[in-house]
Amino acid sequence: MDKKVGVKILGTGSYFPKKILTNADLEKTVDTSDEWISARTGIRERRISENNEPTSELAYKASIDALESAGIKSEQIDLILVATTTPDMLCPSTACFLQMKLGLTFAPAFDISAACSGFIYGISVAKAFIESGLYKTILLVGAEELSKVTDWTDRSTCVLFGDGAGAMILSVSQENDDVLSVVLGANGLYSDLLFLPAGGTAHPATTETVNKKMHTIKMRGREVFKVAVSKMALAAVKALELSGKKRKDIKLFIPHQANMRIIEAVAKKMGIPMDKIFVNIHKTGNISTATTITALDEAVKTGKLQKGDLVELVAFGGGFTWGATVIRV
Ligand code: UT7
Repeated sequence: MDKKVGVKILGTGSYFPKKILTNADLEKTVDTSDEWISARTGIRERRISENNEPTSELAYKASIDALESAGIKSEQIDLILVATTTPDMLCPSTACFLQMKLGLTFAPAFDISAACSGFIYGISVAKAFIESGLYKTILLVGAEELSKVTDWTDRSTCVLFGDGAGAMILSVSQENDDVLSVVLGANGLYSDLLFLPAGGTAHPATTETVNKKMHTIKMRGREVFKVAVSKMALAAVKALELSGKKRKDIKLFIPHQANMRIIEAVAKKMGIPMDKIFVNIHKTGNISTATTITALDEAVKTGKLQKGDLVELVAFGGGFTWGATVIRV
């Protein structure tokens, strides 16, 4: 019988738009304050994409960065996956636009829609494809432009979100298995707590849906908060168990960056000291599916993670969806 193949993580990359929107900037447009935003969320600033800079453009720049870090040519990619909640268009997929930008006309490409957990769902899809032998080298991207689906007059949401993209290259390996475990979950019963009502087939775009701002994110934050803490902690504990590792073996925990208080509550529930938790929410805001991968890339680039270190990613988002994974960088 053939030896089971494993997954090797070859490299990561990220990209953020240049424009910075600070809490002080928001104070000028909505009834909020730097004090409220910082204390309640931990966010101080976020990046905002240009009008002529769609999600695929951020995805492209993050992919180039990941290809460089992996030391491979784009032609070696044989599958492209893009996790996003804010695609360039409903059709074609953002993955197809990315494929075109990379000039990879033969690599199949599709999007993954699992809101903020999309990147972790993507790791599990990439792992399954590699283990099945269908594809050998996969480009997985998490890219978002939440600024373009935000109601900038709604202070309960507009202070939270930002734009950015991260990418990872995963490849087949006979020796390594860098994805030690993945746990995924979903519960559609919570779909009305965090959603983007119009623009799909339930509420096709009309003048009325636009006037009512139904094409922007709606969230019942306090209710989302509670489920986020409990599901992230449960998923993280389960993924750790499945990996066969202990908390002490994990160099860094990278939780979804939605709210500093959620991050602290998850850490407390898991009994993990804050110095083992990676946080960059103060400068990114919540960038949905791009949070975990951009944070991972920053941890690698700043030397917080060294080659061979174990790291656990955990996320939670609309759907609800959640997921956790233990990986080796
Ligand atoms: O990424 C996917 C998952 N998303 C999340 O995990 C987000 C989860 N939720 C949260 O992070 C938090 O619930 C929020 C940051 C969204 C809100 O924080 P909160 O502590 O739950 O505040 P709240 O919604 O209970 O509102 C408290 C008060 C309200 O005023 P009253 O009714 O007490 O007078 C709000 O109107 O804060 C008010 N408020 C604001 N005040 C100043 C809400 N937003 C703002 C604001 N500036 N931006």
